[in-house]
Amino acid sequence: MSNFPRLFLAGVSLLSLVQGYEYQCEPGTDSTVCSLWNLQYVQNGTQLSVKMPSSVQKVRINMEQYYYDRHLGISVYDSVLHVTILHNPTYVQIGYNRIHELHMPTDLRMGEFKQNSISNVLTNSSLSYAVTYLDLQGNSIDDISNFSALVNLQTLNLENNHIKEINGNVFTGMHNLSMLYLGYNGLQKVDFNVFPKALTNLWLFNNNFKDLNLVKVSLPSLTVLDLESNHLKTIDLVAVFAAFPRLQFLPIAQNDFYETEAKRIIAELSRHNVSHYFGDAEGICDSSEYEVSKICFPGSVLIGRSVWKALVLLVLGVIVVAMFAASVRWIWFQMRY
Ligand SMILES: *[C@@H]1O[C@H](CO)[C@@H](O)[C@H](O)[C@H]1NC(C)=O
Ligand SMILES: *[C@@H]1O[C@H](CO)[C@@H](O)[C@H](O)[C@H]1NC(C)=O
Ligand SMILES: *[C@@H]1O[C@H](CO)[C@@H](O)[C@H](O)[C@H]1NC(C)=O
Repeated sequence: MSNFPRLFLAGVSLLSLVQGYEYQCEPGTDSTVCSLWNLQYVQNGTQLSVKMPSSVQKVRINMEQYYYDRHLGISVYDSVLHVTILHNPTYVQIGYNRIHELHMPTDLRMGEFKQNSISNVLTNSSLSYAVTYLDLQGNSIDDISNFSALVNLQTLNLENNHIKEINGNVFTGMHNLSMLYLGYNGLQKVDFNVFPKALTNLWLFNNNFKDLNLVKVSLPSLTVLDLESNHLKTIDLVAVFAAFPRLQFLPIAQNDFYETEAKRIIAELSRHNVSHYFGDAEGICDSSEYEVSKICFPGSVLIGRSVWKALVLLVLGVIVVAMFAASVRWIWFQMRY
């Protein structure tokens, strides 16, 4: 064999190696569903292919979750992946993966991308987006201004991200948004008037709210407002009932109320038939907490958090001074000879 055909053959086999594995949908699902295992895709990476039946509308991609997992997973959800490789599915579910950038496809209707590393969601304000359901919980999003293009959203889950503030007009066009999850973020303040009027459920638990500004607020459809685990010291219930006339659930456990204040709020809520917890409250509190009407509050507020901080700092200070004194003494002993 001369060198040329040999080189040619080597080239062809190298090419087929690079082309590599053809992914196949796992059997056993509905013909509209394609479930894939350990798909690896990096932007501008090697060409990969999926044997995708034309009946498929929903794509689910799962990934190995062991700690020694060395698979690349999916680093970006872009138009090459959405259009060329997955053939424009209407529903996409890729959770617990490595996505850090989501290029929002205009024809996607339901997207579930929870527990990735998404910090950027790319949209174009001059395009129209079909998406009605978007779950991005457990990502790294801090800037949500690009979401303003997603006006057809009905459910938006942004729980457990890094959102510290809400830009005034992000939600303005989302006339059909009814469920909005913003729990486990870093919110300190919010203007409730930025939320759309159709909103029925607003989840704000585990943020840093110290007070609520409800002046001139009106959310006539809101039935659930979850305020658990914030730093509220009081709630102006007259303002709450005026702003949210249809409120039915106002979970308030784990805020910084004094016990008398917690009792007052809960009594007034029940007079208005508003529940202060969901159906599963058990009233089993830690020894450091106090309980009012089946829900728990941190007991340390009775002493005050700043006092605890001062105590910890004082103990640290004593330790540092003691260590300094000991080392001076040691050096002095060494230098005697
Ligand atoms: C918003 O979208 C633009 C254009 O698609 C993109 O360049 C930018 O990175 C996005 N910003 C965020 C915070 O996602
Ligand atoms: C909201 O829902 C209505 C009725 O289903 C629909 O006509 C409209 O296009 C939807 N989107 C927006 C942004 O209002
Ligand atoms: C609360 O519910 C009771 C019984 O359903 C009803 O009689 C009462 O008028 C309600 N109170 C308010 C303030 O809605």
